[in-house]
Amino acid sequence: MTHLGTVIRVLIRAALDTDLDGLGEMAGSRDRAEVRLQAARRGAEEMLVAVAADRVVGVVSVRWRDGCDPPNPWLYGLAVVASARRRGIGRALVGAGEAAGAARGAEAMSLDVDVDDEAAVSFYARLGYVIVGPHRHRWRAIDPGTGAVTAEGTASTWIMRRRLRGID
Ligand SMILES: CC(C)(COP(=O)(O)OP(=O)(O)OC[C@H]1O[C@@H](n2cnc3c(N)ncnc32)[C@H](O)[C@@H]1OP(=O)(O)O)[C@@H](O)C(=O)NCCC(=O)NCCS
Repeated sequence: MTHLGTVIRVLIRAALDTDLDGLGEMAGSRDRAEVRLQAARRGAEEMLVAVAADRVVGVVSVRWRDGCDPPNPWLYGLAVVASARRRGIGRALVGAGEAAGAARGAEAMSLDVDVDDEAAVSFYARLGYVIVGPHRHRWRAIDPGTGAVTAEGTASTWIMRRRLRGID
């Protein structure tokens, strides 16, 4: 992977089909990225990418229903390429996801992180998220072509939440 040097300008926009090739690494696999893009196309989710120097350097998704902490939207799948980290791109992606949630009237944003992922917990805490309790995260891998479930499992996570409006 090439090192980006100083990122001067980062654009955050909705993900496009043409981004798929650059998203596989950040989403875990191209199939996973495609399933997320399909959900965004159906309107079930928002999928946002950060673009710097014409290259996709970050991604996040927000699911409107059936998240880890209903009725709040669920922010998931946040990743920034290693060479572009610690420059505010993760924060900007979370902020854009929150703005999309607020625009739909959401009171709060929720997410879940693996209980042993101290770096992610620290990152989200820095952005104002607070752990509200444990969660058993059920994940499923889906074939984007057929919709068939190809793998599934569970993970122990913390639910973290941040109010988007009002006072706790
Ligand atoms: C977590 C991740 C998205 C952060 O992206 P990033 O662009 O490097 O984050 P930012 O530069 O916007 O950092 C925002 C704040 O969080 C802090 N932060 C970032 N990464 C951190 C880490 N690993 N540990 C502690 N704090 C961290 C930054 O110092 C910054 O704080 P500041 O306000 O004092 O400047 C990125 O490290 C990543 O993609 N990790 C792998 C995937 C992952 O863990 N995703 C989240 C779990 S689903």
